[in-house]
Amino acid sequence: MNQTESRKDEHVRVTLEKDVAAEHNYWDDVKLIHNALPEINKSDIDFSTQLFGKKLDAPLIIAGMTGGYDKAKKINENLAIAAEKYQIGMGVGSQRAALEHPEQIDTYSVIKDYDIPLRFANIGASQIVLWGHKKSLENAQKMIDMIDAHVFIVCLNFLQEAIQSEGEANAKGCFNAVKKLGEDLGTPIVVKESGAGISYDVAERLSKTKIAGIDVGGAGGTSFAAIEHFRAKMIDDKLHERGGKTFWNWGIPTPASILEVGEATDWKLPIIATGGIRNGLDAAKSLALGANCAGVAHALLKPASKSKDATISEVDAIIKEIRAVMFLVGADKVSKMMDVGVDLWI
Ligand SMILES: Cc1cc2nc3c(=O)[nH]c(=O)nc-3n(C[C@H](O)[C@H](O)[C@H](O)COP(=O)(O)O)c2cc1C
Repeated sequence: MNQTESRKDEHVRVTLEKDVAAEHNYWDDVKLIHNALPEINKSDIDFSTQLFGKKLDAPLIIAGMTGGYDKAKKINENLAIAAEKYQIGMGVGSQRAALEHPEQIDTYSVIKDYDIPLRFANIGASQIVLWGHKKSLENAQKMIDMIDAHVFIVCLNFLQEAIQSEGEANAKGCFNAVKKLGEDLGTPIVVKESGAGISYDVAERLSKTKIAGIDVGGAGGTSFAAIEHFRAKMIDDKLHERGGKTFWNWGIPTPASILEVGEATDWKLPIIATGGIRNGLDAAKSLALGANCAGVAHALLKPASKSKDATISEVDAIIKEIRAVMFLVGADKVSKMMDVGVDLWI
């Protein structure tokens, strides 16, 4: 295994074996107001939604996690089977590994074998700064073609870069790189955080570019600082072990980030709510706060590393829970979720 492959493998293994969640899940601070007279039938609820011009049968996306080492192929395939069955969106992890090691391409491209309505390609933002504009355009197209992606995700992961022993904490020029890519890439771009959230100011800046949407990737779920803490511990790297602990809970809570991004963009850019979504209730809360779709990563990683049946049954449960919530708040369409009453303690 080369260095990138073993890092990808370790990220997944640590996530599966250790508790890498933030100490507090902020979805517990959001309560939806029960409607004792919903006046709709649960079976009549229309779950479908449009995102980036594609129809999803449920407002759910499997957030990008993996690819780039042998075992990732099966994980991505199990996720793809569930995404096809329920006609929901799906992303893959950063595709840099496949660009550097073409023998790993099939660990991502396996998802092309499935009829998934919305597929997201993925690269870390520091990579596009490093490549420069021309090479970024070329590589972005390769990554899009690799999985027949409809949307290209640029992932902001500077928390991880800052505390990871091999991290590249070079953010200078990042905004302009994203801006130019948005102008010249023929595929819509989503800017996504990966656990530290997007603030009002950042969203306002991004709203002046040609990006197509924002995945808030907020705090409260998987903590990359926690993952790096455990990785550093494995190699007795005391400094990064400590850094991981110090920054374990760093970031803007996902519910707060949805509100910040929505306000900053006048609710005009589609918002994906990833970060700490454990079940259909959390997903429904994100819709009530104004997200267009919920994104789930960690909650699907364990089932996907087991089997396709385990993955299908987890997605099925999440979707049934969203339906139950929509019934209990009296929303027979996804768009009506924004009108339901919410109590916030964040
Ligand atoms: C093992 C693992 C690897 C990940 N790799 C990526 C990645 O390559 N690119 C990315 O945009 N997000 C990546 N993420 C972040 C997730 O997409 C998501 O934003 C984050 O885990 C928060 O969601 P959760 O609380 O549901 O896990 C990864 C998450 C996990 C658990």
